[in-house]
Amino acid sequence: MSQVIVVASGKGGTGKTTVSTSLALALCRKNYKVLIIDCDSGMRGTDMMLGITGRLVHDLSDVISGSCTLEDAIYECEGAKGLFSIAAPISAEDEVSPQVMKQFILDHKNDYDYVIVDAPAGVGSGFESAAIAADRALVVVNTEPISIRGGMNILNKLTEYGIKDVRLVINRFDAERFVKTGLYSDLDEVIDASGIQLIAVIPEDARIAALSQRGILASNWASAGVVFDTLVERLRGNDVPIVIKL
Ligand SMILES: Nc1ncnc2c1ncn2[C@@H]1O[C@H](COP(=O)(O)OP(=O)(O)OP(=O)(O)O)[C@@H](O)[C@H]1O
Ligand SMILES: [Mg+2]
Repeated sequence: MSQVIVVASGKGGTGKTTVSTSLALALCRKNYKVLIIDCDSGMRGTDMMLGITGRLVHDLSDVISGSCTLEDAIYECEGAKGLFSIAAPISAEDEVSPQVMKQFILDHKNDYDYVIVDAPAGVGSGFESAAIAADRALVVVNTEPISIRGGMNILNKLTEYGIKDVRLVINRFDAERFVKTGLYSDLDEVIDASGIQLIAVIPEDARIAALSQRGILASNWASAGVVFDTLVERLRGNDVPIVIKL
């Protein structure tokens, strides 16, 4: 059965788009058919990370307004068979309303194994549209109090929308910096502060940044992407331990 996963964060720049695209690639590597919907109207990002910007003509707002067909606006990623994406409107004014987005996702989700929705930062305009049809959510945080507070805001909103399956992704984790800054005594304190059950810790890794900025064909994907392979296993309900050395 198809699953819709929204990837959200309270604070900007925590790594939502990186996690969305890397997770989509990892799912694809397991032969799942995946659609990424970019909901960050006016900003976008998945097209760059997936290397389709040069081919991009139509976006979500064109489909909704009827000025192109769905097929026109869905781009399959070169080098990742089975990974499709649809870009966010180029202008924030064309943001798609929650009701329209919900119908759109419900109409098309069963054509895919997974639909990943890359949300805009925060709980403002656009967040509800991104979250409204989600079956589950990943909240991406960095190990800083402001980021954790943002994660709590997201959790509250998701609870309001009735989304119960919410998991925490700690991204850009750097053990040395974590210990040096002394903001938290350990990762359990971070998890407790967020109030969200942990599903993955993604390391600070220049290869992940390079992957996300250069498009999907970065030659070193395999080693940098292993952490997303284990995220896929946990999403599938498999018990893969999270081992972090401080
Ligand atoms: N694990 C990581 N290691 C190193 N760099 C990372 C990692 N995750 C993300 N980055 C870098 O952090 C920056 C922000 O990432 P990204 O664009 O994915 O965040 P975002 O939450 O989608 O931002 P926005 O709120 O603007 O949509 C990018 O330059 C990205 O390459
Ligand atoms: Mg983003």
